[in-house]
Amino acid sequence: MIRVEDLHRHFGGFHAVDGASLTIETGSITGLIGPNGAGKSTLFNVIAGVLPPTSGRVFMDGQEITGLPPHELFHKGLLRTFQLAHEFASMTVRENLMMVPPGQSGETIWKTWFQRSRIAREEAALRRQADEVLDFLTIRHLADEKAGNLSGGQKKLLELGRTMMVDAKIVFLDEVGAGVNRTLLMTIADAIIRLNKERGYTFCVIEHDMDFIGKLCDPVIVMAEGKVLAQGSATDIMRNEAVIEAYLGTGLKNKDMVGA
Ligand SMILES: Nc1ncnc2c1ncn2[C@@H]1O[C@H](COP(=O)(O)OP(=O)(O)OP(=O)(O)O)[C@@H](O)[C@H]1O
Ligand SMILES: [Mg+2]
Repeated sequence: MIRVEDLHRHFGGFHAVDGASLTIETGSITGLIGPNGAGKSTLFNVIAGVLPPTSGRVFMDGQEITGLPPHELFHKGLLRTFQLAHEFASMTVRENLMMVPPGQSGETIWKTWFQRSRIAREEAALRRQADEVLDFLTIRHLADEKAGNLSGGQKKLLELGRTMMVDAKIVFLDEVGAGVNRTLLMTIADAIIRLNKERGYTFCVIEHDMDFIGKLCDPVIVMAEGKVLAQGSATDIMRNEAVIEAYLGTGLKNKDMVGA
């Protein structure tokens, strides 16, 4: 579904992404792992149109999408979540979901004035859809809660929920499990698996938790220093000498890696 060819993204003299090439197969839940600073989020940002690449190309279903802005990619069904959740804190959880789909009739003043009944119908449909998403994510009881009051993990679920308000093809999840308790992490994992199986979503998932990656992802792509270091099943990756080496160099995360 996605092909990345020799992608570079420099910040001044620093090569955050340094010639990365990879493919994400349609229907897969592909993992993207690597030590802190490996360039994973930057790669996501370039694919999702948040940052232009310095050089290199990105294709979706064979069509070049390099440098397209996020809203155009959104219409093509390419969505991303951010490493830090960005909910609208003073709106309710349900309202956060209801504002995702583009092209609602209520968006222009002219239409608001002349088409009240149509807007009311659309709003009711959106509300139903939002409640279905909340049921799916097991957080219907939070529908009327202000999003700002959610726990970190619940905000991540809401981020995932936003991708379900439209017909996504591929969703890029940046550390959707970070700082989330075990129970909620498994809820997130189950939601990802169901979306993949039942709605045909392809996923690319950045995550440091190797249990989570092992449960969800095949294949797993490893990045280090802006390049793709290895690709394979989670089991193969965890035995890969070069991968272990890359993690050992960074200290903090090697315990997860070697112990997994
Ligand atoms: N806007 C920016 N300006 C300058 N340097 C940046 C910028 N964004 C990222 N970098 C640098 O690029 C490198 C890669 O960052 P990136 O966030 O892509 O890593 P990552 O693999 O997502 O790491 P983590 O696992 O910690 O989230 C880091 O050294 C980071 O400091
Ligand atoms: Mg990151």
